[in-house]
Amino acid sequence: MSEQRDQFSSKIGFILAAAGSAVGIGNLVGFPVAATKNGGGAFLIIYALFVAFICVPVMLAEMGLGRRAQKSPLGSYKALSPNNKGWHLAGLLAVITPFMIAVFYMVITVWIFGYLWHSVTGNLDMLADAEYFGQFVNDYGFVGFLIAVTIIVNVILLGGVRQGIEKAAKFLMPALFIMLILLVIFVLSLDNAVLGLEFYLVPDFSKIDGSVINGALSQAFFSLSLGMGILITYGSYFSRRDDIVTSGKLVALTDTAVAFTAGLMTLPAIFAINPNTNPDSLSDSSVSMIFSFFPQIFIALEGVVGYVGASIAATIFFLLTFIAAITSLVSILEVPTAAVIEQAKISRKKALLVMGIAVTVLTLIAATSFGFVPAFTEFTFYADTPKSVFDVIYDVFYDTILPLNGLLICLFVSFHWRRKNLDAELAEGNPGYPNTLLAKYVRLSICTFIPLILAAVFINTVLTKFFAYPIF
Ligand code: PHE
Repeated sequence: MSEQRDQFSSKIGFILAAAGSAVGIGNLVGFPVAATKNGGGAFLIIYALFVAFICVPVMLAEMGLGRRAQKSPLGSYKALSPNNKGWHLAGLLAVITPFMIAVFYMVITVWIFGYLWHSVTGNLDMLADAEYFGQFVNDYGFVGFLIAVTIIVNVILLGGVRQGIEKAAKFLMPALFIMLILLVIFVLSLDNAVLGLEFYLVPDFSKIDGSVINGALSQAFFSLSLGMGILITYGSYFSRRDDIVTSGKLVALTDTAVAFTAGLMTLPAIFAINPNTNPDSLSDSSVSMIFSFFPQIFIALEGVVGYVGASIAATIFFLLTFIAAITSLVSILEVPTAAVIEQAKISRKKALLVMGIAVTVLTLIAATSFGFVPAFTEFTFYADTPKSVFDVIYDVFYDTILPLNGLLICLFVSFHWRRKNLDAELAEGNPGYPNTLLAKYVRLSICTFIPLILAAVFINTVLTKFFAYPIF
């Protein structure tokens, strides 16, 4: 039996859930480090422009589409283009992408849980050992942490939209904000913290080139959870009376504010510990920053606040990151779950069981591709490099298909569903919307330069990732 469609209880419930999705590992580490390496304030300005002028229109399109169709991305594309098989494929892609990204995000979330566990149990010194991460990823302990994370995520998802996702977000998101602010205050009180702020905030426009601009757009797109079908799905749970436009803007603002605030913690912490850090030497990869670099920062705090104090700081950091990751993971798993409930007409419980098994098996395959299982580790070869299963999922779905999904949404709204229908949908709950400057801007941009820019990013990514031939 299919179930009655669940709904968020209020606008604030939706905003917190969508912000929970948007605020993730990318905000806490990826964004601050990318900004510092790529021109500080100059990067921040470009990023903010991308959020406002490219991401917000795509976001409104995704949410509007979902609320109109009242379906998962697959069902939404089907419902709004009943006779066009080509668009059904776009719907399928909008469900497969989050499923695969969920696998890759699950691996990282399980690692974070492991690091949280070891910080709480007094093993910070072990985490800070340069060799440790390499051992950790190839250890059977992973399975225990995987079971714990699977249980947490499924308990939330089993509750459904209102009793599960919304309730968890209402509790976890304020907790995340409070912990972040506490860490910022603590870090800014350390000597030399201001040095980090300088690298983070002072603009250096000489660093800006094509690849930095491409990176800023990808980061913004990923950070707002676009192209993953999440906002289509969450839009379908949004009440017709509520205002999508204001909610979307608030989600974008919250996500950007959290990313910005995280920079006030991450960079000053790095420079407080080592004032001579060269920003160019920081790793581009959030994974190596979180698991190799940060534990060393925390252990260095021992000299200032003692081992227990350093362990408490590390615990708060990993708990914060874990909460950010869990709320994102829940949102991304909800997309294929909703599609399975709808297409196979089975209960949420059964759908979660099927999904849980599929994700767990793939997570184990991806997690053992760091040396543990040679066939998964040297899985394939492209762009002059051997690639593991984890690398392939990352390169294909996360880096390449996300902008493609965004492009498909723009094309669908512009040339199939029609912009006037999007306008009418966004006007529900906000009757004045069609006459606003934003509405005029969305109507113009969604069929012109936004798809052009996303197409350029997609082509450049394909050439860079798979053929080692970047155009910009
Ligand atoms: N916005 C999240 C982040 O910044 C990305 C994400 C969302 C990833 C949902 C997976 C699922 O980390």
